[in-house]
Amino acid sequence: MGSRSSFAPGSSALACCLAALAIFAVLCDGGTTSPFVRTIWPSVDMPFDSDVFATPPGYNAPQQVHITQGDHVGKAVIVSWVTPDEPGSNRVRYWSEKSQKKRYSEDTVVTSYKYYNYTSGYIHHCTIKDLEPDTKYHYVVGSGHVERQFWFVTPPEVGPDVPYTFGLIGDLGQTHDSNVTLTHYEQNPYKPKALLFLGDLSYADDHPLHNNMRWDSWGRFVERSVAYQHWIWVAGNHEIDYCPEIGEYTPFKPYLHRYEVPYKESNSSSPLWYSVKRASAYIIVLSSYSAYAIYTPQYQWLKEELPKVNRSETPWLIVLMHSPLYNSYNYHYMEGESMRVVFEPWFVEHKVDVVIAGHVHAYERTKRISNIAYNITNGLATPDSNPNAPVYITIGDGGNIEGLANNMTEPQPDYSAYREASFGHAIFDIKNRTHAYYAWNRNDDGIAVEADSAWFHNRYWYSVEDSS
Ligand SMILES: [Fe+2]
Repeated sequence: MGSRSSFAPGSSALACCLAALAIFAVLCDGGTTSPFVRTIWPSVDMPFDSDVFATPPGYNAPQQVHITQGDHVGKAVIVSWVTPDEPGSNRVRYWSEKSQKKRYSEDTVVTSYKYYNYTSGYIHHCTIKDLEPDTKYHYVVGSGHVERQFWFVTPPEVGPDVPYTFGLIGDLGQTHDSNVTLTHYEQNPYKPKALLFLGDLSYADDHPLHNNMRWDSWGRFVERSVAYQHWIWVAGNHEIDYCPEIGEYTPFKPYLHRYEVPYKESNSSSPLWYSVKRASAYIIVLSSYSAYAIYTPQYQWLKEELPKVNRSETPWLIVLMHSPLYNSYNYHYMEGESMRVVFEPWFVEHKVDVVIAGHVHAYERTKRISNIAYNITNGLATPDSNPNAPVYITIGDGGNIEGLANNMTEPQPDYSAYREASFGHAIFDIKNRTHAYYAWNRNDDGIAVEADSAWFHNRYWYSVEDSS
């Protein structure tokens, strides 16, 4: 929970001391900096022969199976998989648990790419359309003796009071900590139905020559979750893979070949920024590493996108990006500042409920604040309380090869409600159009303890102060 102040009203100090403390509290009331000391594991990737990276048996067996939303409203699914040896079958066989009637989709794109001395397998993306809402589907990829079967549940029909639980993970990587995070996520008692992934997937680029075999091992590692539920993708800096030293000049090459998203469905010109509706939420994905200043495609798209959000249909307006706009750690400090300057006034104008980012390998939740009053001469450059502003969550604490960000700016800024340098994950549990419960779990506690939590009150329907 985020406490409001370090200084309790019931202090028994003398009046003059109280007055001095009150002044100090005003200056330094930044919420809670958790003193939790975590267990230290070495920040190294799990070896390739770890069981979490096991290759499915059989010649050319499909691997790295993953699904994501395939259209704007959740009635389509993109099923992706990789075959290592030859293209193989491009067909997905699927059936709903209700009807059992077998259907086939061959709406498949097969692609591959080269990256320096690496050649990818055959990457398949198959879009399955016209699915029934809130229905369990089974699906099969591959053929013959290497068929593999999975299942997913489609989201319910979009509507204002539809409950829905999202998971939040960022900067996951493939270390022992990553495995703990994913395991805790799978065990979360709220049973999140879809994951909002805040960018930085495999950290392949932290290996010599951006060893793309780490993209493959990461795909096999997370398959146990993402083959069964939709992960909504955000691109991080570790997806850029720009490396002129080895002749790799195309940004996002491995990521864009491997992870397809339904960007055209929201009139975006790039898979790096797009939107989807899901249950009672409208989710906008932005790219911290694409141009966003005035006149650029992303700026123009977001300017036109935000007014389209109908809060009577999707009350919860959620914005995802990789680089946080508010961050009080001494890591990546101010990297999100230029995007904040451009987009924050729109977030306030359109009453965005929450902005979720990764990138900083730690956890932080802010109060509802904005910093949009500054006009270069008035000196109003301090974040201020604003009931129309989003809460900013930084959850780049999936646990990856680069380790933890444990060095913070001091004192804790007034805008920061809770911060802690631990690995973990969170859930955003929408109850109805007015209330959502949010909880962050640190890995060291196991899943039962919520290290930070808050009730979110919807900015459009119930714009009163949130409560913890
Ligand atoms: Fe990052």
